[in-house]
Amino acid sequence: MPNAPTAPGWPGHPGQPLWPGQGQIPGQPGWPSQNPPYVAPSGSLSVPYSLDLPNGIYDKMLITINGQVTLNAKMFTVDFLKGNDIAFHFNPRFNEAGNQVIVRNHKAGDRWGKEERAIQTMFPFMRGAPFEMKILCTSNDFKVAINNVQILEFKHRVPELSKINRISVYNDVILTSVRAETLP
Ligand code: GAL
Repeated sequence: MPNAPTAPGWPGHPGQPLWPGQGQIPGQPGWPSQNPPYVAPSGSLSVPYSLDLPNGIYDKMLITINGQVTLNAKMFTVDFLKGNDIAFHFNPRFNEAGNQVIVRNHKAGDRWGKEERAIQTMFPFMRGAPFEMKILCTSNDFKVAINNVQILEFKHRVPELSKINRISVYNDVILTSVRAETLP
């Protein structure tokens, strides 16, 4: 299976840019000096965690989340919020009737939309394991990569990107950092 990603370690993509405008693995030489992140907390963040995005989201905005799945995790969640609505709900579940699945959806008012469940790779998370999640916003979709491998895209269902102004992370995850920046 030469193309199948395996966790952890992600062989096969050393030093290659993930997306256009993106550099290499953070912390390695070659990571470009992008526009300075306007939020760059570090150390352990308390969960539930919330980050305001004063300008909403926009094309080429990159969110990087470093964290670790708890040892006994049932699930964790990353939501992009527009007020009380959820523009993008990203919800890895570690045991849904014995299966691991990443459920994506949106919620308007009290109504959930249609779930998306297929991914382009194997389930990339492991209980107890650290991960890096990158969410690239484009004008069409969110692109999500875990450990530098893209796993899925989620087409925008809430079109007013500038009003998607908060990220919330919760459930069974330890958070090290969350940062937002703009790719060149
Ligand atoms: C529901 C669950 C919500 C949310 C939603 C996504 O079953 O209760 O928290 O994950 O699925 O479609």
